[in-house]
Amino acid sequence: MAVASNRSSSSPKDVPCQGVLAFCRVGFEGEVVAELMDLAGRSGIRAEGTAATGAGYATLKFAEALPLRGLAEQFPLRDLVFARQRLFWVARADEIPQRGRDAPIVAALERHGVLVSRLVIEVPDSDAARPLSGFCGRFETPLAEAMVAVKRLRADQTGLPVLHVVFTDATTAWLALVEAGDGSPWPMGIPRLRVSKEAPSRSAHKLVEAIEALLTDKEREASLRAGQRAVDLGAAPGGWSWHLARRGLRVVAIDNGPLAPSAHATGMIQHLKADGFTWRPARPVDWMVCDMVAQPIRVAQLVAEWVAAGRCRHCIFNLKLPMKRRGEELQRCRALIFKLTRVAGPVDLRFKHLYHDRDEVTGYLALKR
Ligand SMILES: C[S@@+](CC[C@H](N)C(=O)[O-])C[C@H]1O[C@@H](n2cnc3c(N)ncnc32)[C@H](O)[C@@H]1O
Repeated sequence: MAVASNRSSSSPKDVPCQGVLAFCRVGFEGEVVAELMDLAGRSGIRAEGTAATGAGYATLKFAEALPLRGLAEQFPLRDLVFARQRLFWVARADEIPQRGRDAPIVAALERHGVLVSRLVIEVPDSDAARPLSGFCGRFETPLAEAMVAVKRLRADQTGLPVLHVVFTDATTAWLALVEAGDGSPWPMGIPRLRVSKEAPSRSAHKLVEAIEALLTDKEREASLRAGQRAVDLGAAPGGWSWHLARRGLRVVAIDNGPLAPSAHATGMIQHLKADGFTWRPARPVDWMVCDMVAQPIRVAQLVAEWVAAGRCRHCIFNLKLPMKRRGEELQRCRALIFKLTRVAGPVDLRFKHLYHDRDEVTGYLALKR
C-alpha cells in the first residue's frame, strides 16, 4: 500500500490538499483539465493536469499542497462547464488489499489529519469504474464505522468537510474533500430527477436539469413562476414546452415539426409553424428557451439579440458543440454574447455540460438586475 502524501494539519479546513479531482462525462476529460488549469493560472497556482480519455474524471496536482480553506473560491464548480463534481484530493491510496480495505484508508486519514462530518464512496461514471459501485455501496457502513472508531467521522459536527472516497479501480482510492455545502449535492455529480412518462421527449430531462443546475433555489423561486409567458424555439416534439406548461407558464412553441399530443393536452401551448431564427414576439416575454439544432455561433447570436433587445428577461439555450475544439467554440460563443449584450448592460451568462447533454452544453442568459 502506498500513499502519495504525508502531511498533517491542525484545523479540518486547513488539511493540505494535493490537487483537484473532477468528474465529467467520458470523453470530456481534456476539456475539464483545460478549465482547471485556467482557474489555477488565474489564482497563480502552479499545477499539472492529467486526463485519461475514457476515465470519466480528470485531476490536477498542485506543485505545492494547499489548505482546503479557500480552494472552493479558487475552483468554483459553477465556473467549470464540463465538470459534474469537483473535489480536492488529500491523498491517493494505491494497492488497497481486497480484505481489510478500511485499514489503509483510515491510516491515511489519520496521517493527514482528516476530520469530516460525512462520508461518500463513489466511482467515476465510466464503463471501467461503474461495476465497482456495488462494492462501494457495501463498503460505506464498515468504513464509516472504522472512521468513527478513530474519531475521523463526526456526524454531529455538520460544519466539517465531507470526505469523498473515489475508487478509480478496485485497488486505488482517492481521498478527497469538499467543504460543507460546497460542490454538487448529487452522488457522482449526477442529478436524480424524476420526469413524468407523459413528457413528449427525453429532451424534457435536459430542461428540468438545466433549471436545477443553472439557477439557484432563490433565483428559481424569483424568476420562474406560474402565470409567466415563454417562447420555445425549436420546440418539437414539445418536451421543453411541456415542462414549462407544467410549471404553469403559457408557451408559444415555434417549430415546423409537430408537437406530441401530451404537449397539446396541457392547454397552455400555442404551436406556430415558423422559423425560430426570424420569428419575434409582438411583446416581451419572461422566458425564451431554445433547443434548435444549428451552428452554436448562430444560436449564441440569436439569444444575445433577444436578451439585449429586451424580448425576453431570461433565456435557457442549448449549444451543439463540434466534436473537436469544443472548449474553443464555447469561448467564441461566450465572447459574442458578451459583445452583443454590452449595450444593454452586464449579463449573467452561465454554461453547464449537463448529465443529459451529449456533445452540447446548456446555457443561461439574463441581464443582471
Ligand atoms: C432537439 S429538437 C428539440 C426538442 C425539444 N426541445 C423537445 O424538448 O422536445 C430540435 C428541433 O429544432 C427544430 N428546428 C431546427 N431549426 C429550426 C428553425 N430554424 N426554426 C424552428 N425550429 C427549428 C427542429 O425541427 C427540431 O424539432
